[in-house]
Amino acid sequence: MKLQHLRGTEDLFPRETFLWNTVESRYRDLFHQYNYHEIRTPLLELTALFQRGIGESTDIVQKEMYTFSDRGGRSVSLRPEATASVVRAYLQHKIYGEAQPAKYYYIGPMFRYERPQTGRNRQFHQTGVEALGSEDPALDAEIITLAWRLLTLLGLKNNYLLLNSIGCHQCRPPYISQFTAFLEDKRERLCHDCQRRLEMNPLRVLDCKQKACQDTIDGAPTILDELCISCGDHFQRVQSYLQGVDVPYQLEEGLVRGLDYYTRTTFEIIDTNLGAQDAILGGGRYDGLAEEIGERRVPGIGFAMGLERLLISIKKEGLSFPQSTSPELYLVKIGEVHPQAFCQLQRLRDKGIRTEMDYLGRSVKGQMKAANRCNARYTLILGEEELKRGKVLLRHMESGEEEQVPLQALPDYCLERLKGRTNSTSTS
Ligand code: HAM
Repeated sequence: MKLQHLRGTEDLFPRETFLWNTVESRYRDLFHQYNYHEIRTPLLELTALFQRGIGESTDIVQKEMYTFSDRGGRSVSLRPEATASVVRAYLQHKIYGEAQPAKYYYIGPMFRYERPQTGRNRQFHQTGVEALGSEDPALDAEIITLAWRLLTLLGLKNNYLLLNSIGCHQCRPPYISQFTAFLEDKRERLCHDCQRRLEMNPLRVLDCKQKACQDTIDGAPTILDELCISCGDHFQRVQSYLQGVDVPYQLEEGLVRGLDYYTRTTFEIIDTNLGAQDAILGGGRYDGLAEEIGERRVPGIGFAMGLERLLISIKKEGLSFPQSTSPELYLVKIGEVHPQAFCQLQRLRDKGIRTEMDYLGRSVKGQMKAANRCNARYTLILGEEELKRGKVLLRHMESGEEEQVPLQALPDYCLERLKGRTNSTSTS
């Protein structure tokens, strides 16, 4: 049997991880500007957390979780998303006793057994933010603004924001009754999945992509008309905050999202670079989730962005990011100077200079080629002759300019030369 990675998972080599890390460091700074700080929760949780948090009737819990019994006979699952885990951690560690709201972000792998295609993986990565402990509509607007700024900061332009409110536990049930009554005699026209959804979670029919279902629900009562006074007021305020900071949005009454914990505000950003899987990020408010998993009412709101989708979009737009990981200096050895070369390399590295040398016994020509291949800016040529004279040859790879540098002063001299060290790479 040939051993390969599992379908729907990926190996990321340095060319890719470099890009991921660069992008990541940009948005970490943005999160800190908004006072969100990193939380790390386990990849493995009790299955019950997701059953209760995400909801038994959702596709994620019904068909997509990696669930198994551990050696202690507990049913555990690889996390399909992180919101339920963040809320579990918040409750478990009694963070509600500290200053509120608690504002977190996370970056990491999630697991869903879905049919793999471009932008849809079985192990994928999300970065997300969650704010817990406040119902203030300004917090909804802050989270949505942060999501929008995140994409503009990275230079993505081909996207638009969809916004909705799906009400609360008071106004939603009467709306659902109206909606199911509307569909009562049209049930056969719905796709197979929606006929099932109608039984278990009728609102999900609203965001089915099938044309037949969309045609069938045409003319159905809309949730925005049925919001209770307090949800309506909350939603109005969210919108006025967004207008105040010029975040453009479109109301989308069908946006109910695929997880059961949402209440009130829901939103998604669609990226038109992406093709079929075009939701680059999604989120919403989940004021009932903490009660579902921990019997304490804690309002919360957040979103998560798919990093594979983000990277696809960045590449499609051919965006450039500063590159700073290739060696700045490649040490080329002439003759038997290995111990001295090794020491010089270490002196340079101790000064923070990125350096490399040959470990394969290549000829001088071969070493120059290797230096070229790894994009080194300078080569440093060191042989017995140079050691005797106490001087080495520093060569700028692009211009071919050469200079003799005293060995003693080498690290400081190179540091001076390398000032303004970043160069740029394109993703296209
Ligand atoms: P979600 O809509 O299930 O929401 O996922 C958020 C994002 O993760 C999607 O917009 C997409 O970019 C990415 N994503 C989801 N599934 C896959 C997949 N199979 N392959 C690649 N990317 C994928 C949540 O997960 C919620 N926890 C978001 C949230 C946070 N709501 C409140 N707080």
